[in-house]
Amino acid sequence: MYDLAIIGGGPGGYVAAERAGAAGLNTILFEKKSLGGVCLNEGCIPTKTLLYSAKVYNYAVTGDHYGVHVDNPSFDYAEILKRKEKVVKKLVAGVRLAMKSHEVTVVPAEAFIKGRGAEGIAIEAEGEEYLAKNLLICTGSEAVVPPFPGLSEAGEVVVTNREILALTERPAELVVIGGGVIGMEFAAFFNTLGTKVTVVEMLPKILGPLDDEISAMLQKQYEKKGITFCLSCKVTAIEGDTVVYEDPEGNVCRVRGDRILMSVGRRASLQGFGLENLGVECVLNKAGRPVGIKVDEKMRTSVPGVYAAGDVTGFSMLAHTASREGEVAVNTILGKEDRMRYNAIPGVVYTNPEVAGAGLTESEAQARGIAFKVVKLPMAYSGRFVAENERGEGICKIIVGAERHEVLGVHMLGNPCSEIIHSACIAIEQGMTLEQLQEVVFPHPTVSEIIKETAFSLQETI
Ligand code: NAI
Repeated sequence: MYDLAIIGGGPGGYVAAERAGAAGLNTILFEKKSLGGVCLNEGCIPTKTLLYSAKVYNYAVTGDHYGVHVDNPSFDYAEILKRKEKVVKKLVAGVRLAMKSHEVTVVPAEAFIKGRGAEGIAIEAEGEEYLAKNLLICTGSEAVVPPFPGLSEAGEVVVTNREILALTERPAELVVIGGGVIGMEFAAFFNTLGTKVTVVEMLPKILGPLDDEISAMLQKQYEKKGITFCLSCKVTAIEGDTVVYEDPEGNVCRVRGDRILMSVGRRASLQGFGLENLGVECVLNKAGRPVGIKVDEKMRTSVPGVYAAGDVTGFSMLAHTASREGEVAVNTILGKEDRMRYNAIPGVVYTNPEVAGAGLTESEAQARGIAFKVVKLPMAYSGRFVAENERGEGICKIIVGAERHEVLGVHMLGNPCSEIIHSACIAIEQGMTLEQLQEVVFPHPTVSEIIKETAFSLQETI
């Protein structure tokens, strides 16, 4: 009998397994593909590795701006892919080692929940049955592939985030359906390597939930770099290597590509592992279809002893959310006081320049009827940013409550904002005011100082 069985070895599952093992819980983890899940094998890590190669290439191409001249910079796509494989392999091995050192039993097989009885929760894998007192479901999500007419005939031209990572040749022309996070990161990568990229997005802006001003600034920068954006354009069909879409005036338009990337969102993986045998309640969409496992703030499902964390909840589909949710579930099992909070979850888009944000955007604050003020500064107020980002443009925005000036949200465009956004998360989590933020000593010269500078611009702009 195990104290805890975990289905799914992504950042939700493996982090929970580590925490559970460290706390002395007899833990078993089932993973049918590769430890690390989508994040490590076909998401966050491989894409960031590719994007870093693109960034290095871009440094060579733009070296002139820094007084460094590189003759005929070039790249080898096969070598870029090889390095990506190496990085993934190394990190998967690291997760395997972490499981071992925390005495987690790893079953490299597909798990199937048989049900919950007096003895515990029964799980089957490769003909063997396992019993556990608690179950944590971390089965993740899969790419949404809408049934566009012509899709099945298009064959291998159409790819998702998984297949595009395995392409052995760089497409000369790429059409991206959906200008969300996945779409924009791949658009950025291939654009840097010289691919002609067209992004077709249904909404009037790219990166929907992001701060409007920042997504407009990023779009402008990528337009300058050669990406074509078709906004308010809904894809309706695929004709071979051609994407058919309706423009805002209702005209039927077409754009062709050597590859078509389908990046229109992801959906929770709820099928095929016996979830129905537990009778767990799900969140339903307007059409009454289940879109995620329903959990409370302690990651408990409607069935006692059964927890869920990560994309399978259908809520905040981010690796770091999954890991924290897994920790909350383990702490709840251990009887420790903990709860999941979503008000300061950071979001990062690894374009070049990067985008990072945490907390409320202006439009979210407006929609919630919150009285707020906005303070903002160009990134150029940071000396380090100017030193390292020739011709770079960026912005830092802080959203504060109108009365007390408590930090509600921070949104940034400019490198390396992915590495400094956590300070905003801390400020939001701790309920800090702008005045308290002003008292913190930031290292000089760093780009992080932009947060403090922006906090000081309160008097000037409000
Ligand atoms: P997304 O939800 O971010 O974007 C999908 C986009 O497709 C939306 O803007 C939507 O309006 C558009 N769309 C939908 N149907 C369309 C149609 N018929 N025609 C044109 N446009 C259409 O989903 P995405 O990019 O696939 O990412 C999936 C998940 O993975 C997200 O939850 C994201 O947060 C996560 N992710 C996070 C990353 C990060 O944190 N850096 C990186 C990659 C993925």
